Amino acid sequence: MNRLIVVSNRVQPPTSNGAANQGGLAVALSAALRKSHGIWFGWSGMETETYNGEVNFQTSEGVTTATVDLEPQDVDEYYNGYANRTLWPLFHERVDIAEFQRDFEGGYERVNQRFSEALSHLIETDDLIWIHDYHLIPLGRSLRGQGVTNPMGFFLHTPWPPTRLLLSLPHHRELVESLFAYDVVGFQTQEWLDSFLHYAQHQLGANIGENGTISHKGKTISAISCPIGIDAAAFRKIATEGPVLRKYASMMRSAEGRSIMLGVDRLDYSKGLQERFWGYEKFLKDHPHMEDQVFLLQIAPPSREDVKSYQEIRNQLDSLSGRINGEFASAEWVPIRYVNKGYSRNELAGIYRAARVCLVTPLRDGMNLVAKEYIAAQNEEDPGVLILSHFAGAAEQLKSALLVNPHSAEDLSDAIARALTIDREERVARWRELYESIQREDVNWWLDRFIAALTRSREDEAGVSEEAPSA
Ligand code: F6P
Repeated sequence: MNRLIVVSNRVQPPTSNGAANQGGLAVALSAALRKSHGIWFGWSGMETETYNGEVNFQTSEGVTTATVDLEPQDVDEYYNGYANRTLWPLFHERVDIAEFQRDFEGGYERVNQRFSEALSHLIETDDLIWIHDYHLIPLGRSLRGQGVTNPMGFFLHTPWPPTRLLLSLPHHRELVESLFAYDVVGFQTQEWLDSFLHYAQHQLGANIGENGTISHKGKTISAISCPIGIDAAAFRKIATEGPVLRKYASMMRSAEGRSIMLGVDRLDYSKGLQERFWGYEKFLKDHPHMEDQVFLLQIAPPSREDVKSYQEIRNQLDSLSGRINGEFASAEWVPIRYVNKGYSRNELAGIYRAARVCLVTPLRDGMNLVAKEYIAAQNEEDPGVLILSHFAGAAEQLKSALLVNPHSAEDLSDAIARALTIDREERVARWRELYESIQREDVNWWLDRFIAALTRSREDEAGVSEEAPSA
């Protein structure tokens, strides 16, 4: 395997306590990096007074990371600004709260250029370069500008917006054209890929080939749908081990015979948390006899706290959960346990296993790995039920979940009522189909599929140019 260089805004190296505190994606990327003696490059998450381009190398558990600090203006304009106040809302179809400011755009270009300068010194001839997510769309173009000719792929973890929304972004054409610096561009679902192809065809006038290639201004790239997975077998294994079973037992004790309904989401307006609470409130109103027999455990660690829309959603959820609890609680029972902190992988696995129902109801989501982790953690003889939004990328794959419209409180209320009454035979049958799918298309499948497409893109090119003279 060629050496792999992974680039992402955040870098999450493994720690000495193993996979317990690393997300599934980080575990898989770490494994690929370890195998290829690769490097994981990105922002350290730290600020320095003035940007100095110093790359800090660290090796932990066989994985080498290379990070740079950013200056406060970079963090404001690139991360909090263009990435999280412009692109994130726009890509999640919240053009109403997307902010378009030239400073943000300038900061985004500047940081991508800075990353490219720092990174270009680390690249060797045979390296494969794999860049991740909306923070770094133009990085490939900057690297090409510095003479980097290596195979380069880009994977978008978020949705790609419909063309009519993307048109509201100033300089949208330039941003999209920058993707033509890559050899392969990957999306989580066929739907996001189709939106990208629509833009390429109708706005750029690009030529779409039958084999998934897109040609524009003399450059041909390959665009693929490549849904990210989890390490289903590893997650399933930890779900039956000591630490997880202890957490499971403590959750069951604390539930005191009530059914746990669970939500686990970064505190983000795209996750549909208000709508979920309204749906649950409707359920409590529609099924008063269920009061005291269930509760909703919503885990929502705060995120992107410097951004106003995140502060607002946090305030709204504080007040909504308080109101619902005030209205429905009794001296012995609270309908919503609302928890603003994160849990380790082991703890989460135990919580998933204890939950009778898991609500994954984003208004728009690139994939959503909570849905897959919940399935992997279940007891196959008595599994819980997944309620999944039509608008999560995962819905393209997980068709045996109870699919809902997260905007409709009535739909949510009905789905909750149904999830709580589905008999064991049906739960097992649904679970089997879901598990089979997350095991087949797991994180290693995703990784291999993307790297194979990247390697193939150059082989195809070589094939074309070798054939050219005799044609
Ligand atoms: O999936 C989108 C994403 O931005 C990831 O890139 C990131 O790891 C996650 O959400 C958390 O976001 P942040 O790094 O802004 O806390």
